[in-house]
Amino acid sequence: MARQFFVGGNFKMNGSVETIKKIVGYLNDAKLDDNVEVVIAPPTLYLLLAREHLKPGLQIAAQNVFDRPNGAFTGEISVDQLKDSNIKWTLVGHSERRTILREEDDFVAAKTKAALDGGVSVILCIGESLEEREADKTIEVVTKQLKAVSDKISDWSKIVIAYEPIWAIGTGKVASIAQAQEVHAAIRSWLKKEVSEEAAEKTRIIYGGSVSEKNCKDLSTQSDIDGFLVGGASLKPAFVDIINSRL
Ligand code: G3P
Repeated sequence: MARQFFVGGNFKMNGSVETIKKIVGYLNDAKLDDNVEVVIAPPTLYLLLAREHLKPGLQIAAQNVFDRPNGAFTGEISVDQLKDSNIKWTLVGHSERRTILREEDDFVAAKTKAALDGGVSVILCIGESLEEREADKTIEVVTKQLKAVSDKISDWSKIVIAYEPIWAIGTGKVASIAQAQEVHAAIRSWLKKEVSEEAAEKTRIIYGGSVSEKNCKDLSTQSDIDGFLVGGASLKPAFVDIINSRL
């Protein structure tokens, strides 16, 4: 069964009013593969700006969301506020939030549940550190991260899983095709065993970690790689080539 290819652009804490408008401008003008689902994730401050200028068909995601409803949570953004702003996606559990901001698996799972319960789709980020890979713990780590979520939710139809090996993020050291496909296949097997055949078949599993216009075509040929979550390259015109990697 064909899964729609999915390309996310995680701008991280980058951009300004000027540069966000520029990126949105060249995405609006570009000839994009209309078989690809495109979602860009600007910094929170620029979500409405991007929402206002991005052409229909291209979607917007928050980079994070809180797990509790509106209230006394200074600095946080709620699911209801995303919905109020017509933001239909959010990243959850990016490795930079897990490592720098110490977000635990359970908190990531609670955010995932809150977003799904509120009708916001989730790009669920998972991935291992270099030390964990070198200790041959990659599958153990990513399935533990997935299990924390499956302990709280059963409907995976509004989740895209982003496998992002931490050692490949921002380093230029993209995972090899074999490395990426191996983990993606293991994630799909885990979904089949622990969730359902349907979830395994239908869930997009996308790769993130130094994706560029040079390596995206080869990665996109793999049966269990359903797209990309792009960091640095999403801020450049080359992001269009990554979206069009299967043309
Ligand atoms: O969320 C995507 C990001 O972690 C990957 O970053 O710069 O290696 O593409 P980058």
